[in-house]
Amino acid sequence: MILDVITTFPDTVKAFREMGIVGRAFNTGLAELKCWDIRDFADDTYKHIDDVPYGGGPGMIIKPDPLFRAFEAVEAFRKNAGHRIFLTPQGQPFQQNDAERLIDHSHIVLLCGRYKGIDERVRDELIDEEISLGDFVLSGGEIAAFAVIDAMVRLLPGAVNDEGSTKSDTFPVGLLDAPYYTRPAEYRGNKVPDVLLSGHHAEIDKWREQQRQERTKNKRPDLFERYMRGLEESNGPS
Ligand SMILES: C[S@@+](CC[C@H](N)C(=O)[O-])C[C@H]1O[C@@H](n2cnc3c(N)ncnc32)[C@H](O)[C@@H]1O
Repeated sequence: MILDVITTFPDTVKAFREMGIVGRAFNTGLAELKCWDIRDFADDTYKHIDDVPYGGGPGMIIKPDPLFRAFEAVEAFRKNAGHRIFLTPQGQPFQQNDAERLIDHSHIVLLCGRYKGIDERVRDELIDEEISLGDFVLSGGEIAAFAVIDAMVRLLPGAVNDEGSTKSDTFPVGLLDAPYYTRPAEYRGNKVPDVLLSGHHAEIDKWREQQRQERTKNKRPDLFERYMRGLEESNGPS
């Protein structure tokens, strides 16, 4: 999977690309990540990429030209335009099934906005999809881009040593993940549930499934309702 990130802060990617599972995926060639600095596509010697908004008002807007030229440079370099995503609070809130859907694209380009935003013509002409990290406003799209990349890359076959681990995480089956414990069996008077020490794998699986359902019902009743509806639909009319 090829990932191109168009940003005003290319240095932010350095630590991210070395971290954990995602870092390993980049280092082993499972995924490739390249950053494109919007300032490299500025058309003046001072590398201005923003200007005041027409009609007045607060904030600065990233100009269309450096962004069009950045996308053109990515396309020329990769020999294809890729699936172009703009990170914006106005996009669809990002969910696990989006990560699952997006890994079918072999090449994704992520545009990170800054300041008051980007010239609308970039959205009109170049963007295939808008994604939001949630209903809050960040100062820039980089954190959102990294979140989307992390969620996708860890799903690539071979990214995680034990793929069962990602399948049992929160969301893939529509439930929150079960509680986990590690040694010691008792810590400051708080004991690990007996069933987990029993060695009975069928009982442990049953307990974990109950816990997943219970936690989802308590913490995320919206998800639980959706999960139950899905179960009813897959069982068909009684
Ligand atoms: C200060 S914000 C601009 C917000 C813009 N004026 C609006 O209200 O839609 C600067 C940039 O941060 C990014 N950003 C902010 N919040 C985001 C979110 N919730 N999800 C994804 N990107 C976000 C976008 O790329 C945006 O262009």
